[in-house]
Amino acid sequence: MPRAHITVDREFTIGEVPTRLFGSFVEHMGRCVYTGIYEPGHPTATPEGYRQDVLDLTKELGATVVRYPGGNFVSGYNWEDGVGPVDERPRRLDGAWHTLESNAFGLHEFVGWSHQAGVEVMEAVNLGTRGVDAARSLVEYANHPGGTYLSDLRKQNGDADPFDIKLWCLGNEMDGPWQIGHKTADEYGRLAQEAAKAMRFVDPNIELVACGSSSSAMPTFGAWEQTVLTHAYDEVDYVSLHAYYQESNDAGSFLASAVDMDYFIESVISTADAVRAKGRHKKHINLSFDEWNVWYNGGREGDDQPEAITASGVWREHPRVIEDEYNVTDAVVVGTLLNSLLRHGDRVKIANQAQLVNVIAPIRSEENGPAWRQSIFWPFARMAELARGQILRTSVNSDRYESKQFGDIDVVDVSATWDEETGRTSFFIANRGLDDSAEVEVSLRGFSASRIIRAEVLQVPDGADRFASNKLAQHDQVGLRTLDGATADGNTLRVTLPALSWAVIQLEEVRGS
Ligand code: AHR
Repeated sequence: MPRAHITVDREFTIGEVPTRLFGSFVEHMGRCVYTGIYEPGHPTATPEGYRQDVLDLTKELGATVVRYPGGNFVSGYNWEDGVGPVDERPRRLDGAWHTLESNAFGLHEFVGWSHQAGVEVMEAVNLGTRGVDAARSLVEYANHPGGTYLSDLRKQNGDADPFDIKLWCLGNEMDGPWQIGHKTADEYGRLAQEAAKAMRFVDPNIELVACGSSSSAMPTFGAWEQTVLTHAYDEVDYVSLHAYYQESNDAGSFLASAVDMDYFIESVISTADAVRAKGRHKKHINLSFDEWNVWYNGGREGDDQPEAITASGVWREHPRVIEDEYNVTDAVVVGTLLNSLLRHGDRVKIANQAQLVNVIAPIRSEENGPAWRQSIFWPFARMAELARGQILRTSVNSDRYESKQFGDIDVVDVSATWDEETGRTSFFIANRGLDDSAEVEVSLRGFSASRIIRAEVLQVPDGADRFASNKLAQHDQVGLRTLDGATADGNTLRVTLPALSWAVIQLEEVRGS
């Protein structure tokens, strides 16, 4: 049985858990908006047409900030199409996903939804087909109190109070040749700089995210960040990262995906800091990992694949697109990706799992039917709920296994937080071992004696295999259950993790001890 010894010390912290680390993403893509978050006529629909069942699951998921409206979609989108009387809004072709966009849902509807979901809005501007003028106009429409043409138009369209959107993305994946209006790093860097300047002239309090690379495998990775930040360093606050992982005939490498995420994050930090040094800048650029998830991109065939939809030549409204069904292995990988993000919380200040509902999502919903949680819902929901206070540095001494893609990998992966106010310490631990359970011992240095107040595990359900998933007909096959046998003895926590599992263990100091 593999073993791991983990040490944490109350004095060794990385920084505060960034609230925006538990972000999500709503794109006008497939059934994320229509029949996802929005379905007037659904039995649970609110008076505004939002699906209450999806709103409830969004709250349970614990998403804190939601990026909108894309994604590739935003690079051909006119924000003006989505405001004003709904029956006067234009129907458009969305070239990114080969679909018909009715524009029945737009900015006002999304902001209204965000209030009901209790999430912050992260708005993206179109720097593909549009530029500086449309970007600054959108900021004025959304954030200016009133007394100008655009801010008064917002009032006329139903919202007297400014939306006060703080967080803005300067386009999407502009390094990708698939992007509408794709640009070279120099072209994009200059445009991002000028758009940022003009947007800040309208509202100096906004925070801006420049596009980094669409993945660390892009041929321009590294050089792209360097060039873009050289142009726009003073004008932006964050640089973005996107990454999707999939299992392709090699479970060991798939389970080690977080090693690639660590590499990606650390490379972008180094590049941003090199630009900082060269330009003699004072501030640091932080990271916005604003698209990440497991996505069987090319790994699964079917009529919900973007290539098949485009090849059909038919333009449909909100067709099924990449409605990946997640299994136990995917949930363990998502748990480790969250660990990677949390361990880098000193520089990764924003992260958005892509997407929220139906499209590669933790939540699924059927038109006129139910909504349910996928396997990947659980690690996200528990970490969003329990990761509080300071991120603890974790020293891990684990048995290792060899993966084809990443070499030797720790069987056990962990992140941890410590909340001084409540006296609670939370551990998020994955056992990547496919066949064996893992004995884990955690030494808590500098903490008072603690007792376990929560121990839950996601594992292969009895009688099933690691490909088990939740389906329309069987919503709850994969979920969290009580983890038996965990003990806290003084300052030592001992736990046995089942093969291929993700667990959360929360301890509380016995105050006065
Ligand atoms: O999330 C799905 C798509 O993946 C987004 O539209 C795009 O930004 C990325 O390539």
